[in-house]
Amino acid sequence: MDLYEYQARDLFEKYGVPVLAGIVADTPEEVKAAAEKLGGVVVVKAQVKTGGRGKAGGVKVAKNPDEAYEAAKAILGLNIKGHVVKRVMVAAGARIAREFYFSVLLDRSNRSYLSLASVEGGMEIEQLAVEKPEALARVEVNPLEGITPEKALEIAKAGNFEPGLAEKVADVFVKLYEVYKGEDATLVEVNPLVQTEEGDIIALDGKVTLDDNASEVRHPEHEELADKATENPLEAKAKESGLNYVKLDGQVGIIGNGAGLVMSTLDVVAYAGENHGGVKPANFLDIGGGANAQVMASGLDVILGDEQVKSVFVNVFGGITSCVAVAEGIVKALEILGDTATKPLVVRLDGNQVEEGRAILQAAAHPLVTLAATMDEGADKAAELANA
Ligand SMILES: Nc1ncnc2c1ncn2[C@@H]1O[C@H](COP(=O)(O)OP(=O)(O)OP(=O)(O)O)[C@@H](O)[C@H]1O
Ligand SMILES: [Mg+2]
Repeated sequence: MDLYEYQARDLFEKYGVPVLAGIVADTPEEVKAAAEKLGGVVVVKAQVKTGGRGKAGGVKVAKNPDEAYEAAKAILGLNIKGHVVKRVMVAAGARIAREFYFSVLLDRSNRSYLSLASVEGGMEIEQLAVEKPEALARVEVNPLEGITPEKALEIAKAGNFEPGLAEKVADVFVKLYEVYKGEDATLVEVNPLVQTEEGDIIALDGKVTLDDNASEVRHPEHEELADKATENPLEAKAKESGLNYVKLDGQVGIIGNGAGLVMSTLDVVAYAGENHGGVKPANFLDIGGGANAQVMASGLDVILGDEQVKSVFVNVFGGITSCVAVAEGIVKALEILGDTATKPLVVRLDGNQVEEGRAILQAAAHPLVTLAATMDEGADKAAELANA
């Protein structure tokens, strides 16, 4: 989960990273009030989960509350790379002398952590990385050791921070690593980290990505940071039912058991779709091991709620769960859903007690259900029905 800048700012503050005061606001009136409260020069900043806000006109300096009001009017409603600004943060203005760059992230390809740092930070960092890659230090961080004060100094020196300054920023690097580790983040980025005219080091912008795998058990409090409004409503509904669902862009709804089988089903359906008007899978949905009627009904309910879906392919390999349980689940799920089930279902069962499972579906003879003998046949049939 990506955080908004104001949420990152709050986390930074909690860990002792130096930040400036910031107040979130949703209307120009609230912005004006916030500017009055902060006093002096403020910066009105669009809160959207995308980069390049400054260049898109989403970050404006205001010398007084009236200017802040006008800035808010210009920024609220602005479309930044497809993200409409609904909220801003009014931040105390800093007198910036220099801008730096720092980040620490999960480096999946090297199964390690990586820190990037440069004394040349600011809005042109992407350009710097391309045109002058040597100016952006890349330092591997051993996850077992983390960013100790010594490591932080090594990173600062590699990023060309001069003696004197290097020690100062290194202190902040250590604290930012504590945020990264303490919150189970996969990214903590500060651009710009600034030195003010007064000589203070301050994190003026923050991007934090939290590891969703850590949220349920290790960080139940992260739930509060989730942005319900921007979440896909189908994904939100699936999450409530404890289903492992990802919305995709096609027309064939998919239900399977086991992530590997579901992934292959997506491939096979996409391939079959090439012969049927280019239809594609509409979702990923893994109902896992316990494919009982309730789970099947919840899964079908989510998939049938997707207006783009024209047919559904249920592809189950009975292992520990027998095909009898799955077949009974499908029959009961269709009963539970009643008239809300309106789209054709192609079912392929194989594995444990397959004959008995198929017999149950045949006996039920539900008008929407077609049985398929193999995965390829089922994918082809489902694609054909989606294209009909
Ligand atoms: N509180 C502040 N006081 C003074 N200047 C600021 C403040 N916040 C931001 N700025 C200036 O505005 C520039 C852009 O701000 P910021 O880094 O927050 O947005 P951005 O980089 O455009 O957004 P993103 O990081 O999403 O690409 C900064 O580089 C800095 O020069
Ligand atoms: Mg920035």
